[in-house]
Amino acid sequence: MKKPITIFRKKEYDQVETKLKRKLNLFDLVFIGIGAIIGAGIFVLTGQAAAEYAGPGIILSFLISGVAIGITALVYAEFSSAFPVAGSAYSYTYATLGEIIAWLVAWNILLEYGIATAAVATGWSGYLRAFLENNFNFTLPLALSGAFNLTKGTYLDLFAFLGVLGVFILLTLGIKESARVNAVIVVLKLLTLLIFIVIGLKYINWENLNPFLPYGWQGVWRASSLIIFAYLGFDAVSTLAEESKKPQKDLPRGLIFSLGISAFLYMAVSFTLVGMLNYKEYAGKPDSLAYAMYKVNEVWVANFISISAVITITSVMLVMGLGFTRVVYALARDGLLFKTLAEVHPKLGTPYKASLLGGLFLSLMAGLLPLKVLAELVNIGTLFAYFIVGIACMAIKQRKDILPTFRLPLPQVLLPLNLLFLLFIMAGLPWETWSRFIIWSFLGILIYVFYGFKHSVLNGKTLTK
Ligand code: ALA
Repeated sequence: MKKPITIFRKKEYDQVETKLKRKLNLFDLVFIGIGAIIGAGIFVLTGQAAAEYAGPGIILSFLISGVAIGITALVYAEFSSAFPVAGSAYSYTYATLGEIIAWLVAWNILLEYGIATAAVATGWSGYLRAFLENNFNFTLPLALSGAFNLTKGTYLDLFAFLGVLGVFILLTLGIKESARVNAVIVVLKLLTLLIFIVIGLKYINWENLNPFLPYGWQGVWRASSLIIFAYLGFDAVSTLAEESKKPQKDLPRGLIFSLGISAFLYMAVSFTLVGMLNYKEYAGKPDSLAYAMYKVNEVWVANFISISAVITITSVMLVMGLGFTRVVYALARDGLLFKTLAEVHPKLGTPYKASLLGGLFLSLMAGLLPLKVLAELVNIGTLFAYFIVGIACMAIKQRKDILPTFRLPLPQVLLPLNLLFLLFIMAGLPWETWSRFIIWSFLGILIYVFYGFKHSVLNGKTLTK
């Protein structure tokens, strides 16, 4: 028999005996999905992307990204029904395309969760600053009110820095958001967006929608590649496979429902936002939803949105931060990252080294880099991971031993379309983001070659083809 090349060795998951309790039903999964999806993307990036790139065409950007992510979610649904194990994209690719590819996927998912925590924190900081300014006349010194930008005179986004640090300290102490707190926060999020839509619709001025595409299709495309950030996080549902009561049935539905609800709200919110004020007014306004309400004198609604944004975005930070520490932990446990990062604190029961080191690094990123840079880095890494999962899905179609209970409809059309859509959106990102992504991936390959390959727990095990 031909021996498989070791860097493409695969991990088998079919005998996974889960130690986790199966207690989540469909409703919980949808709530957890929405909890991870709706965050700084809609609250902050919508206004910025409209002002800088798309104008009112931002509604189309949400539609295009929504379709791309929608097909990816169906791919995830098929995978999660075939491999109902924790670990999501990392496990799917480990089982199908082999170790080095799985490592690259996981290395980029670290960007998704880690940098997203930092990115979301800068959005959170924007709402907090604006709220304190508008209500308490409290203004941070300019130097501490934004990421390093000499023209603006800012050096550090103090709130974002402290926010991420705080979140990782909580995670190190083992404080997780309980399912009940998550449910309350999701209800608050949905309510806030609904209130924004219902009150905002009264102030729609159709003239604001004209011209609809001030920057042409190019702008719509560019904006799609930024605001796709708002949809990321849906894959959190698929990481819960081992805790779901009926994973093969509920995971696909949980993915599709949570994404569908968010997409519908995003399009309605973006329409309302660009209909209320001229898109140019949102330039440099991190708290665009609240800002629109202040401008039409709905001060109470504006304050409600700001407080709700601060609370709900905190919850996204916690979820993303938790995801980050767990990916580091899983990689270290599998021997692909430094073993010491998998050490669990004897009293706290958390991977404290991964939490503290990650927290320190990510809080600096949050403090020193602007939201757009962070969000685009998250986007490119995550879209890359989705792309590889798309290829892995094509690969499982050839295998008779893998039997998903949910199948993506029209695979001959949708699978290639998924890859094309993802590439198209990635291609909309600027070359700076691409170069950061290439450096990050190169660093990942170096770590694998010099560390992971030798320390992988698969060493010495019988390899499968
Ligand atoms: N989708 C998440 C957000 O918008 C990352 O905050």
